[in-house]
Amino acid sequence: MRILILGKGGREHAIGKKLLKDFSPMEIYFYPGNGGTNQIGNNLEKNYSTMELCFFAKKKAIDITIVGSENFLLDGIVNVFQNYGLKIMGPHYEAAKLEGDRVFSKTFMIKYGVRTPKYKVFSSYQESLDYLKKTTYSVAIKTNGLAEGKGVHLVKNKKEAKKALNSIMIEKKFGKSGDKVIIEDFLEGQECSILSILNGKNITPFLSVKDYKKIGENEKGKNTGGMGSIAPNPYMTNEIWLDFKENILKPTLEGLFAEKLMFFGFIYFGLMITSNKIYLLEYNTRMGDPETQTLLPLMNSNFIHMIQSSFLYKEISISWKKLCSCCVVLSSGGYPDKYKTGKVIEGINSLNEPFYISGANNKKEKWITSGGRVLNVVGLGNTIDEARKKAYNEVKKVKFEDFYFRKDIGL
Ligand code: GLY
Repeated sequence: MRILILGKGGREHAIGKKLLKDFSPMEIYFYPGNGGTNQIGNNLEKNYSTMELCFFAKKKAIDITIVGSENFLLDGIVNVFQNYGLKIMGPHYEAAKLEGDRVFSKTFMIKYGVRTPKYKVFSSYQESLDYLKKTTYSVAIKTNGLAEGKGVHLVKNKKEAKKALNSIMIEKKFGKSGDKVIIEDFLEGQECSILSILNGKNITPFLSVKDYKKIGENEKGKNTGGMGSIAPNPYMTNEIWLDFKENILKPTLEGLFAEKLMFFGFIYFGLMITSNKIYLLEYNTRMGDPETQTLLPLMNSNFIHMIQSSFLYKEISISWKKLCSCCVVLSSGGYPDKYKTGKVIEGINSLNEPFYISGANNKKEKWITSGGRVLNVVGLGNTIDEARKKAYNEVKKVKFEDFYFRKDIGL
C-alpha cells in the first residue's frame, strides 16, 4: 500500500508510525515532512504545487492521501485529487471553510442549533473598539482566517483588547486572516478536543482529549498550537458526552447534510466544558496536533482499515486501550514568538516509544532543531498521573540549548 501524508509536524509523524505498526508492506510519502518522517518514509524534497502533488500521487499510484495540516485545504486540494480519481481524507473546499472561515463556521453553528458562545463580527477597527467599550469583559477576539493556532486572544480589559485588535487589524500580523474579527463571549471552563472520523454518512468520535494551548503554566501567556495534551479528558463525564452528542454532534451532522458539506476525513471539535454544559468554540477539519500524538498510541483499531472502511460508507467502531495518555511538547525558547533553530538535540535516540518529531532534522546522525515545536514525548499509564510521570521521565533524557516545556501537563 502507498500512502501520501501532507504536513510537517508531530501529528504527521504519529500518523505515519501508526500506519506502519498496523499494516505491512506500506510505503509512505510525506510532503513536506520533517526529520522524523524521513526516517520512516520518504519526504518529498522540492516545492510542490497542488497540481504537482496530484500528478505525483497519480504517477506513484498512491492509494490514499491523508491531509494532516489545514494549510493545504483552502487551496481546494481535495477537489483536485477527487477530480483525478484519487482517494483523499479531508474536506472539499466548501467544507474546509468550517475551519478556514470563522464567520462561515459560526453562521453554520447558529443555523443548525449547534451550541456555541454568542459573538459579533467586525471588519472595522473603530467599530470593534466601540463595541468593546459597551461590553463586559472577558471576551475572545479571534481572526476570521487561519493563524496557526495563534489567532485567538483572550482579553480581560480594554488595554488588552486594544492591543489584540491593533495587532490583528492595524499591524496585520495575521495578514488577510485578520480582515474580519469575531468577538465572542468568553466562557470559563475546561477545554476539550474531540476528534472524529467521517465516513460520508456519519461521524464517529474518538476519545476526548484535553489540550494545553497556552505557552505558560496554569494556562498563562500566549496561545500556541498546543504544548501538550492528555486523554481521556478527565472533565468529560457521561452527562457531558450525552450533551455533546445531542447539542453538538447531532446538529453538526444535520447541517453537513443540509448544506452538502459531508466529506471523508476528520472533524475536530474544539470545545469548552463549563460547570454543566458543553459549547463548541470551533471546528477543525483535520486531526489535532498534539491531540493525534496523544490518541494514536491508545488506539487498538487498525487505522488504515478504518480509513478504508470510511471510504466505503461502512459503520466505524473504534477499540481503545483502557489506558491514559500524556503528551509533553518540547519547544524552542521564544516560541510562539521569535525563536532560534539549528540547535543540536541530545538524547532523542535513547527515548522510549512513543515519541514524535515536530520540528527537527536529522543530519549526519545528529538531530537539529528546525521549528518552534520540536518534539513530542508521550507516556501511557493506568491513570493520568502515571502517564504524566512516564512522559516527564522521558523528557529528562532530552536537552538542547534554550529548550522549553510546560511542567504542568496532566496536573
Ligand atoms: N491543538 C490544536 C490544534 O491542532 O489546532
